[in-house]
Amino acid sequence: MDYKKSKEKIKTHSTYQSWNWWPLLPLYPYGLRKTFFTELVPNQVWSFEQLQGIYYVAVPVRLTVVKVSGGLMILNPLPPTKELLEKISQLQKDHGPVKTIVLPTASGLEHKISLPALARCFPKSKLWICPGQWSFPFDLPLDWLGIPKKRTNILFSDGLPHKDICEWISLGPINIGLGRFQEISCYHKPSKSLLVTDALVGISEEPPALFDLDPTPLLFHSREKGSEPLFDSIEARKKGWKRLVLFASYLRPSQLDIPSVFDVFRNAFNTEVLNPKSHFGIYPFSWRKDWESSAKELLGTYRPLVQIAPVIERLVFPRAKEVFLAWLEELRSIKEMNWLISAHYLGKVSFTSNDVQNLKGKIEKREWAPSEQNWKFLGWLDKKLLDFKVVPLNPMSKFKD
Ligand SMILES: [Fe+2]
Repeated sequence: MDYKKSKEKIKTHSTYQSWNWWPLLPLYPYGLRKTFFTELVPNQVWSFEQLQGIYYVAVPVRLTVVKVSGGLMILNPLPPTKELLEKISQLQKDHGPVKTIVLPTASGLEHKISLPALARCFPKSKLWICPGQWSFPFDLPLDWLGIPKKRTNILFSDGLPHKDICEWISLGPINIGLGRFQEISCYHKPSKSLLVTDALVGISEEPPALFDLDPTPLLFHSREKGSEPLFDSIEARKKGWKRLVLFASYLRPSQLDIPSVFDVFRNAFNTEVLNPKSHFGIYPFSWRKDWESSAKELLGTYRPLVQIAPVIERLVFPRAKEVFLAWLEELRSIKEMNWLISAHYLGKVSFTSNDVQNLKGKIEKREWAPSEQNWKFLGWLDKKLLDFKVVPLNPMSKFKD
């Protein structure tokens, strides 16, 4: 019993979940990345979730492992902590070695930064990456980014991996100024699952189970003032989750006010919140009374709502709606599809060819990339980026290969 306890203690020790390269992309929870593991499709698809965000505005980000002939394929790399590697090695015992690692996005920093370290953990694997990889502020060659060139292949131009069971579909490329946005979705036939990175997400009312490992971000944002201590309850978690979804979707939702510095400090530093978890009572947010109705538009009521994330629509595709619709049209032809498995939010959402048709119809009818109400801040940001010529007016203009 004592032995078991001490073993458990070792496992929850920070080195088991630590990620030393976090300063490359200094996002919450920084050097400590707890991983939540689930089997999404029995014997076919597994999910490894970690949290990622800024100032407790954190949403799940996912690495996916799928079964391929003779072994496993990893999609959307994440920080390879000891905890994550141990779970993958358990899968390897049952299903064979990691044969392939795929970075299916040209812009997804969180996955790009994790690839070199993950690749080193599986030295016999072949790497496949989305074309047009770029880095900022300097556009560095692959080797300089730590991606081993000798075993790296470019999707499409060097062929495609596991074509017997995977169909690869490109969204983009489009020019987003600093580089390109492109992601290559994978339809994995045995599990009838469409695997995407950022293009689509499924969001539900319930907070993701990942937060059971640490609900602090939910509780932090469920409050009205900094002087309120963090209090854990199902309601507080749900309320915090809705606010996190609003933040992550619109960056600055219209129902959110930023109080004056005087008000922020007036509510801070009281004895009940004098701890780092509560940020010592510093809470620079004030939600208007009707904030919840905005959240409802993003969450599914009876089933999770599949959508293009507003931040992607307004900042990546504002002038490229046709490109997004063309990708949906390609997906529509996958008649046997059952599931969407995205790198954010919910792991597995029911998603059929009919759902694609409905989503496409909805997008065709509604205004695309608006700039009013909740979209106001995103619209303002896009205009600034255009004014400073950071992003091009024509996203289909030439980009470097
Ligand atoms: Fe992402």
